Amino acid sequence: AELVERATSDPQQAHRVPELARSLWANARSLVDLVSDVLDLTRLDSGQTDLHVTEFPLHELIDAEVFQAEAAADGKGLTIAKVLPATPVKLLTDRTKLKRVIANLLSNAVKFTERGSVQVECVVRDDVRISIADTGIGIPGEALNKIFDEFFQLRNPERNREKGAGLGLAICRRLVASLGCTLSLESVVGTGTTFTLIIPKELVARPAIVDGGMSAEIDSGDRIKGLRVLLVEDNEVARRAVEELLSGEGAKVTAAADGRSALASLDKAEFDVLLLDLNLPDMDGTGVLHRLSESGQLIGRKIVISGDARPERVSQVKALGADEILAKPVSLARIRTAILKETDASDQNGFGTTT
Ligand SMILES: Nc1ncnc2c1ncn2[C@@H]1O[C@H](COP(=O)(O)OP(=O)(O)OP(=O)(O)O)[C@@H](O)[C@H]1O
Ligand SMILES: [Mg+2]
Repeated sequence: AELVERATSDPQQAHRVPELARSLWANARSLVDLVSDVLDLTRLDSGQTDLHVTEFPLHELIDAEVFQAEAAADGKGLTIAKVLPATPVKLLTDRTKLKRVIANLLSNAVKFTERGSVQVECVVRDDVRISIADTGIGIPGEALNKIFDEFFQLRNPERNREKGAGLGLAICRRLVASLGCTLSLESVVGTGTTFTLIIPKELVARPAIVDGGMSAEIDSGDRIKGLRVLLVEDNEVARRAVEELLSGEGAKVTAAADGRSALASLDKAEFDVLLLDLNLPDMDGTGVLHRLSESGQLIGRKIVISGDARPERVSQVKALGADEILAKPVSLARIRTAILKETDASDQNGFGTTT
């Protein structure tokens, strides 16, 4: 900053201002990146992150991230190829978090490749697979497990100029887990590395069907619209995430943080779906199921979320009328699937547990 100031006041130095300002900016930028990465890690570890679920087109996200990465790739003479499916894919997940994962994988691919190319490919079957392949230096087998650790960076004999703190993949690992996705990699030293992100089918919105110029959206989201959901969950982050997901799809969500307020809500109103965490601060969640069976109030789907999935607990909860028991940890995608699943008669033998 001092140099910039000096250069500004000295006409002879004036031509250097843009360059100095750029380097100042770059330094500040990398410091800000580091601090925000560390903060993000801490936040992710303390569970203080919300999932902000929306529906969005995957193509646009990939286009934007490739465009971003192209600046660095051009500088090194690398090309980035995109192989995307012809039909657009829509996802139903946290866009910002997914974007962050793809951005870091792309930036790594460019950073650790000196020659050749980077290819981003998206394959849609039941799930969606995004692979980012480079022709770079590769990662030796013994380091494959470590690269997701905080601050782990391989020494790169050829190029030590590459900056970074070694936090990108540590953050990715946590983001991928919180999204309910999986990330795998294959690498051959000296040949290249391929990271593959698997987005499970629960996070894939069905494509719009174009019919005679009219576009009809066939989306299971329609079936969530208007559902009256009683959500009983004491963990604030989980509660807000589920609330956000469901109200985003048009459900009317009543949220209760403990058993007492859940019972109060049941007295006041009727519901189509009950989403019940068994581990409540003031009572065992089965108290809520007891009350339902006593009052005879009918709820279309009763989904129980439990940290305890032992068979005796499961059958106790089933006996109290739960339609489905989800063992913790449970992703938003599984909750969504559980709500959408029709209550199936063959499922009434107490064996419908999804884990
Ligand atoms: N595509 C790749 N090819 C070769 N090595 C890789 C690749 N991606 C990651 N690595 C190795 O894994 C390490 C950790 O990656 P990570 O993204 O966490 O950190 P970084 O890119 O060095 O720094 P940051 O992401 O914090 O800027 C890298 O330093 C590198 O040694
Ligand atoms: Mg990185």
